Amino acid sequence: MTPKLTATTLATSSCNMAQPLIHLRPCGAALSSSEAHRSLLDALEAHQVAVEFQCRSGYCGACRLRLLAGEVKYHREPLAFVGRGEILPCCCQPVDDIELELSSPPPKL
Ligand code: FES
Repeated sequence: MTPKLTATTLATSSCNMAQPLIHLRPCGAALSSSEAHRSLLDALEAHQVAVEFQCRSGYCGACRLRLLAGEVKYHREPLAFVGRGEILPCCCQPVDDIELELSSPPPKL
């Protein structure tokens, strides 16, 4: 049985302060990320957050999300167009705590 995920259970504990948090808006969930996740997309998927994707390499733009606050770093510059305020989570990592807009909240949050 999969436990129900809530903003409280997903928040990083105080012993893991160095890892950036991923805040989802408007649902309010706070997800932990770690160096073990190869990308922000991997971190979201680890928390059962469904994000569309195709190439997972920065070519197609299918994973495009709106970054409301914070900063990400790209593993290498993506080839897909990235508009102002947008990110491609398949090929970046959060630098610090970030806020992402998800138009439809994940069903498990
Ligand atoms: S999945 Fe193709 S750019 Fe992210």
